[in-house]
Amino acid sequence: MNTKEKLLGLLESNTEKYLSGEDIAEALGISRTAVWKAVNALRSDGCAIEAVSNKGYRLVSDADVLSENGIRKHLDTSIADIGLSVYPVTDSTNIRVREAALSGAPEGFAAVAGSQTAGRGRLGRSFYSPAGTGLYLSLLLRPAALPSRQTIKITTLAAVAACEAIEAVSDRKAMIKWVNDIFIDGKKVSGILTEASFSLESDSAEYVILGIGFNILTPEGGFPDEIKNIAGAIFDRPQKDIRNRLAAEFISRFMAAYRAPRFGGYEEKYRARSLAVGHTVDVLLPAGPKEAYVLDVDDDCRLIVRYPDGTEDSLYSGEVSIKLSHAR
Ligand code: BTN
Repeated sequence: MNTKEKLLGLLESNTEKYLSGEDIAEALGISRTAVWKAVNALRSDGCAIEAVSNKGYRLVSDADVLSENGIRKHLDTSIADIGLSVYPVTDSTNIRVREAALSGAPEGFAAVAGSQTAGRGRLGRSFYSPAGTGLYLSLLLRPAALPSRQTIKITTLAAVAACEAIEAVSDRKAMIKWVNDIFIDGKKVSGILTEASFSLESDSAEYVILGIGFNILTPEGGFPDEIKNIAGAIFDRPQKDIRNRLAAEFISRFMAAYRAPRFGGYEEKYRARSLAVGHTVDVLLPAGPKEAYVLDVDDDCRLIVRYPDGTEDSLYSGEVSIKLSHAR
């Protein structure tokens, strides 16, 4: 832990009182100048630290400061040992986790960021990741003998965990647009990008990077034009400690299900939250959109559809996507 992280930990455990520069210097074994520099560094990361002369420093108690200690405080005890790196800003948490994977980090390692400068989305798109209004995190998984066609299960399991985590910290009902977008009231509030490295010999994953981004609030001035019709936020006003709580809820819920035999039979939960099942959608085929009625999502995460001529098909998410034009 560097000085800045140690100072944040100290302030987090003392939000009810002011700590003088001298007390902090003594507690951390550093100079008063080093304290002052660390306070400034935390403030430029967006931490609300109050300074009152003759009293000292105090973390504003209703602040939403993303931190390793803040996340660990809410993590399920069964995963207390996971590695966790928290960045106020990074290029992409999926890149941080890939680096960790290549240097041998164990399963469960998580990289969490307050903003991303090169956030990645599906199909080579970018993922809008502004500071102060979102949460961006990636997890390293090392599944035993997971064939490439099964990695979709990690994505869909994450979609269920994301909905449950959102509902644990808010009063919103979260649903899934096949295959991995999380919607609230018709707007996308979260997206998932799963990347994996496969062994060609065994066709099984060497490691999997599960990345998820949440729109917690609408950014000031709204979402950029390209996404403003589809993007939404979980909350309409700031919430105390929300990013640490949401990160911990998601990681805890995902890891518990992932470690359960057969992922805890999550498929039923996925179906129950699916926006498309029982509705008519547009299947976006290379030849153009085609209307179809969605009958089901099967246990391999394929969408089972019936076209108006009565023929049925099962669609792989890697090949086609859908538009909920006729659904809710
Ligand atoms: C999508 O909706 O297209 C998927 C978006 C996935 C975004 C997350 S944010 C954390 C992780 N890091 C990235 O660069 N991307 C994923």
